[in-house]
Amino acid sequence: MHPAVLLLLRLSSLLHALRSAAAFASNETASTASCAPARCGNLNISYPFTLGGVQPQECGFPAFELACDADRAYLTKSFRERLYRVYSISYDTNSLVVAVETVFPGAGMSCGVPDFNVSSGLALYPLNISNTNNNLVLLYNCEIPPEKQLFPPCANHTIGAYVSETTPEGEVNPPQWVQKNCSSVSVPVRALQEGQDPARNYMGLITQGFLLEWPAKESRGCDACRVRGGECRFVQFSLRCICPDGRPCPTPRGKQRVFPRVALT
Ligand SMILES: *[C@@H]1O[C@H](CO)[C@@H](O)[C@H](O)[C@H]1NC(C)=O
Ligand SMILES: *[C@@H]1O[C@H](CO)[C@@H](O)[C@H](O)[C@H]1NC(C)=O
Ligand SMILES: *[C@@H]1O[C@H](CO)[C@@H](O)[C@H](O)[C@H]1NC(C)=O
Ligand SMILES: *[C@@H]1O[C@H](CO)[C@@H](O)[C@H](O)[C@H]1NC(C)=O
Ligand SMILES: *[C@@H]1O[C@H](CO)[C@@H](O)[C@H](O)[C@H]1NC(C)=O
Ligand SMILES: *[C@@H]1O[C@H](CO)[C@@H](O)[C@H](O)[C@H]1NC(C)=O
Repeated sequence: MHPAVLLLLRLSSLLHALRSAAAFASNETASTASCAPARCGNLNISYPFTLGGVQPQECGFPAFELACDADRAYLTKSFRERLYRVYSISYDTNSLVVAVETVFPGAGMSCGVPDFNVSSGLALYPLNISNTNNNLVLLYNCEIPPEKQLFPPCANHTIGAYVSETTPEGEVNPPQWVQKNCSSVSVPVRALQEGQDPARNYMGLITQGFLLEWPAKESRGCDACRVRGGECRFVQFSLRCICPDGRPCPTPRGKQRVFPRVALT
């Protein structure tokens, strides 16, 4: 990723951390604003996601704040606005389907091929790209055999496409027709259908999106909290369980919170 982009992302997460720390300091034990599920289109938004402007930010991970624009949900902490559209969230499988919405530089609005590696753009999110996806590789600035060129073309750009094969050992070598001097980007896409030509289906593949997963341990902690009648919050980098009185829920009877032993010498 471009260093300036990385810097911006780091700055914005730092600012965010400072802001949440300040909010936390102003009211250490109690919180009144509700984290009730919010809606955007047909999406149910609750911990670890939040809907900006509707739910307080501490209702989820800072990185998982969404914006709702005409019933479409987008991740907000991206290096361009409305870059990652969230189609669906599965709270049972800790996964979400996201599609990258962008245009290739100089292609007007007509071509949604990204000009960056989509996995790098997501590197700073606590998300993993599911290994059930395929990887669509797009090549440009080099000679592309006509049958590998995008069709319909991306404005007047010559761009080639293939789906890279991955094995447990990693990505296998690119196909032989790929020249060494090509520029390339890759986009995770859902599994290709048998015989589907990536060069002719590239827009469908990109707009269908791909599967991402978030760490299961965060959701387990939150499930336990809901069983106790609480609401999950994310304060100072950790999950808090807040009861309806606005105070931290007591830990279950007989299961006192265990504090680390401190050696007193
Ligand atoms: C903290 O929260 C409690 C309970 O909701 C509220 O009464 C109090 O005013 C809050 N204090 C600050 C400093 O916001
Ligand atoms: C959304 O959440 C509400 C409240 O938790 C629930 O009643 C409803 O069934 C959910 N809808 C979907 C589509 O998941
Ligand atoms: C995308 O990743 C590939 C492989 O790591 C790299 O060769 C390529 O230069 C990257 N593209 C961009 C636009 O950064
Ligand atoms: C593509 O179109 C743009 C504007 O329509 C033009 O400026 C550019 O030179 C064209 N590029 C090629 C390779 O034809
Ligand atoms: C890339 O390499 C091919 C031959 O391998 C050459 O014909 C072409 O001009 C090169 N393109 C660039 C942009 O260097
Ligand atoms: C994400 O990937 C990393 C590295 O492969 C792994 O350690 C981690 O457990 C994965 N997390 C999830 C939620 O799958």
